[in-house]
Amino acid sequence: MSKLRVGVAGLGTVGGGLLKLFADPSSRVNEKMELVAVSARNRQRARGVDISNYNWFDDPVELAAQRDLDVVVELIGGSDGPAKRAVETALQRGAHVVTANKALVAVHGSSLAETSEGTGGKLLFEAAVGGGVPMIKMLKESLAGSRASAVAGILNGTCNYILTEMETSGRSFADVLADAQRMGYAEADPTTDVGGFDAAHKLTILSAIAFGSKPDFDHVRIEGIELVSLDDILLAGKLGYRIKLIAKGALTDGAVEMHVRPALLSYDHPLANVGGSLNALVVDAEPSGQLTFIGRGAGEGPTAASVASDLIDLAEGRAGFAFGRALAQLAAAPRGTPAERGRYYLRLMVQDRAGVVAAISDRLAHEEISIESFLQMPVHDGPAVPIVLTTQTCARSRVEAAVKAIEALDVSAEPPFLMPVEHTGPRWSRS
Ligand SMILES: NC(=O)c1ccc[n+]([C@@H]2O[C@H](COP(=O)([O-])OP(=O)(O)OC[C@H]3O[C@@H](n4cnc5c(N)ncnc54)[C@H](OP(=O)(O)O)[C@@H]3O)[C@@H](O)[C@H]2O)c1
Repeated sequence: MSKLRVGVAGLGTVGGGLLKLFADPSSRVNEKMELVAVSARNRQRARGVDISNYNWFDDPVELAAQRDLDVVVELIGGSDGPAKRAVETALQRGAHVVTANKALVAVHGSSLAETSEGTGGKLLFEAAVGGGVPMIKMLKESLAGSRASAVAGILNGTCNYILTEMETSGRSFADVLADAQRMGYAEADPTTDVGGFDAAHKLTILSAIAFGSKPDFDHVRIEGIELVSLDDILLAGKLGYRIKLIAKGALTDGAVEMHVRPALLSYDHPLANVGGSLNALVVDAEPSGQLTFIGRGAGEGPTAASVASDLIDLAEGRAGFAFGRALAQLAAAPRGTPAERGRYYLRLMVQDRAGVVAAISDRLAHEEISIESFLQMPVHDGPAVPIVLTTQTCARSRVEAAVKAIEALDVSAEPPFLMPVEHTGPRWSRS
């Protein structure tokens, strides 16, 4: 049988890793595939492996249009621009596409799947979520016989690294971020990562596959980690919790809810001890039960290995629908209502004077919110002292109303900061 002819557009971190796999005669990608064409911006840039035997294209869309290529691998990035044009061009002529581009798949997944189904060109993107951790295959294939009710994960290694480093080194968010940028762990413009958008792209993809619904990035409620202070981490620690950026999707009464936000996790939570740049996903599914996956969510080797596994699936005829089911079978799931109940953590920076704590307690009591734990930092630099508390289970709307009332007291030096407390248990989509 003749080998599949592959073109790779984008030869950076992931594309460079894939070149190395193609240069390794023992790699399985070479058994059934042949790399014949490559594209990047700068032809002169050293790629770590010899690329002189491959056809070079300055324009990735031109590479994607080559009729002798069976598979186009897109490793450029970005939801629009040349990456999108290259992927569309390949799919439109019936070629298969493998990509690691979560932004593209999250934002344009439905239209790309439609083109793919129309022409027969398969669209695979295992590397787009969880880097080297096979989260997509697990949901699409291994859990095909179960019904997922919730997925929750640590899906952005940069955020997890920053939060872990703040806790272990006692340094501020700004200090750790600056170091991470110097060491190349964080982008010069960190917004996509620390603002929660990267995790939201990945959650959009996972939720679509897990719940059989159309990918709907606009539906994700997104908060980043920028407002998490060292005080939050230290005080949450004293209360028995660790703070993580959690990306969570849940299917509740037929509606899909998705959010990305920092949350408190008790130390026995399955995601609490996932440190550094690791990624992890917990899935609640029936009848399988709860499953947890942990591993390296980024980097040249793990991500290129996931791209290679998609290529091998294509070569061996195992590629199915992009989101696990035909587009017509994916529901346009109604958006979940934010009528949430749970336990909450509230940090207030207040003036250190008599009566303030009593006034705050009064506003919480007015909303029928019971306090579970309360901590005040005894000594603190500056005119305000942090007070943190956790509530017992209550409606989020009630906590938000209490926060408004506390703000109106005019004792806060900074806006109050609210985070949910995640709970463990077999079905932890809601309290
Ligand atoms: N890095 C990871 O660990 C990781 C993990 C999971 C998923 N991903 C995803 O994988 C994709 C690639 O990420 P990466 O980290 O490998 O990116 P990267 O290191 O920035 O590499 C991007 C590559 O695209 C090329 N490129 C950019 N604009 C181009 C254009 N207009 N025409 C042709 N080539 C162009 C660049 O060319 P030059 O080299 O000539 O500049 C470079 O080779 C992204 O979608 C990313 O989200 C990355």
